Amino acid sequence: MDVRIFDTQLELDAFAAELFTDIVKSKPNAVLGLATGSTPVGIYAKMVEKYRKGDVSFADVTTFNLDEYVGLKPYNDQSYAYYMNKHLFAHIDIPDTQTFLPNGMAEDLEAECAQYDRMLLERQIDVQLLGIGHNGHIGFNEPDHALSGETHVVKLKDETREANARFFASMDEVPEYAITMGVGSILKANSIVLVVRGADKADIVKQALTGPITTEVPASLLQTHPRVTVLLDREAGRMLG
Ligand code: F6R
Repeated sequence: MDVRIFDTQLELDAFAAELFTDIVKSKPNAVLGLATGSTPVGIYAKMVEKYRKGDVSFADVTTFNLDEYVGLKPYNDQSYAYYMNKHLFAHIDIPDTQTFLPNGMAEDLEAECAQYDRMLLERQIDVQLLGIGHNGHIGFNEPDHALSGETHVVKLKDETREANARFFASMDEVPEYAITMGVGSILKANSIVLVVRGADKADIVKQALTGPITTEVPASLLQTHPRVTVLLDREAGRMLG
């Protein structure tokens, strides 16, 4: 793993954004795997800045997001579809038809998962962006004695709902279920960029990067992937030797 620690958020965001735009510049029809949450906000802002400067075009890019809540309409401002439009898609030249998220409103969620996997099988993700949950989840693959390789519906752990409650008016509004890409699909990406900020994640970063590979820390499976870049701020990296 290529682990890099940054002094400032701006430096980290700029580096991560450049990593993605460099891939798009060298391969205009690149397939990007994207994430939501607080971690990528600044990275997307930098990507938008680069697009506005004319440095990069996303016209031929395809994107697949990791996950979406079950039961939130795309125009609900807590849905990940809304988030992606707000932070990235609405500000760049990517056509809507080339951006994919699981549909958490699908009547048949199992069929939706199978359809998402079929699309993922047809396209190779060039680079997958990941954040990490305090419990080590990637996407919404929560710690468990076994993990699913494929896209699936997951019941969110209380700790994950509590962590995400900060974005909602109250805890009751946080959905209980989500659709997530499986770890198999994540690990099939050609390269992976894991971004982590904050002292509260220092311990899980250490476990994920240097602890045993275990489904109880889903991010530890990243140790099995040959091309992972880990971008940390000083606080998140403070427990690494
Ligand atoms: C988001 C996702 C999650 C987050 C993780 C960290 O699409 O899949 O795994 O990356 O929960 O969230 P933040 O960045 O809000 O701390």
